[in-house]
Amino acid sequence: MITKRLRRQSLDALFLAEKVLRDGQLVAVPTETVYGLAANAFNNQAVARIFDAKNRPADNPLIFHVKDVAQAAEFADMTPLAERLFERFSPGPLTIVSDLKSRDKLLACADLDTVAVRIPNNKFLLELIANCGFPLAAPSANISGKPSPTNCHDVLEDMDGRIPLVIDDGESKTGVESTVVTAGWNGEIVILRPGAVTPEQLAEYGRVIIDPRVTEELDDGEVRSPGMKYRHYAPKAKVLLVDGDTEAYAATFASAFPNVKLYVITKPEKNIFAELRDADRNGVDQIIATLPGVTGFDLALRNRLLRAAEFNVVKN
Ligand code: TXA
Ligand code: MG
Repeated sequence: MITKRLRRQSLDALFLAEKVLRDGQLVAVPTETVYGLAANAFNNQAVARIFDAKNRPADNPLIFHVKDVAQAAEFADMTPLAERLFERFSPGPLTIVSDLKSRDKLLACADLDTVAVRIPNNKFLLELIANCGFPLAAPSANISGKPSPTNCHDVLEDMDGRIPLVIDDGESKTGVESTVVTAGWNGEIVILRPGAVTPEQLAEYGRVIIDPRVTEELDDGEVRSPGMKYRHYAPKAKVLLVDGDTEAYAATFASAFPNVKLYVITKPEKNIFAELRDADRNGVDQIIATLPGVTGFDLALRNRLLRAAEFNVVKN
């Protein structure tokens, strides 16, 4: 399959993307967080193509992208708290898991009776969803396990030849995937995956609980969000996190292993996924990065890097 790349500005981008989606095929689309791999969320055959193209485990459900809260209400049974959170943070990097209204099993929900929904803050994507009239199921547009793509080049690195169309809208603004939460009838907000909408911001709307798996390696008990149990965001290079003085640790490491190609990230930032991919392209063997903190956007960086490093942290 030849993958066509169209700039967001090109005259036929919207038209062609809609046509491909109506045909039950996949389009890689820009969002403000990372690029997504989109299909009609209600078309199980189309959604199956997403799981194929990504090599994604079938029990890991996808996020439904909608144009507004009214469209979400067509299939998601939102709590009053969920509606308040959408009003405050959407369009934007917040995904809310609600009960599904219908009992029909959807492949995009991995047969669960819940559904994850977000309203992305990207003009092209919002117009595309409005034109299609159906929600778009879209996970990050990477091969499962690799860092999420934040530009068209990184999408093509994984998806060239696997999908018919990618829409290029430059660099993703946020660089890290959306915050995923549940917003219970009891007023509790549980963070399943941290992102640019921070725990501190959410705390103004209810009691915030951060699922322990966000920062800890647990493999027992019930997993509330299937995505938590898979190895994630990992480049080919090994990743080691330093809790303390990263530069000193890296200097010691470099003199002990002079033949290992080392890449040091002293201050991880929102371009972290692009950096991990660059390191791989440059043949880096070992990445040493500072362990980010537990507040604000740092919590999202900490969560992604802990998984990329398979929880290898040294104190220094
Ligand atoms: O920013 C984003 O959220 C990006 C862009 C493309 O919108 N999408 C994204 O999708 O990161 P994905 O598939 O890579 O991650 C979806 C996460 C997974 O951790 C998944 O387990 C969780 O959301 N999720 C989806 N549906 C769920 C559900 N019904 N219950 C609990 N967790 C769910
Ligand atoms: Mg992903």
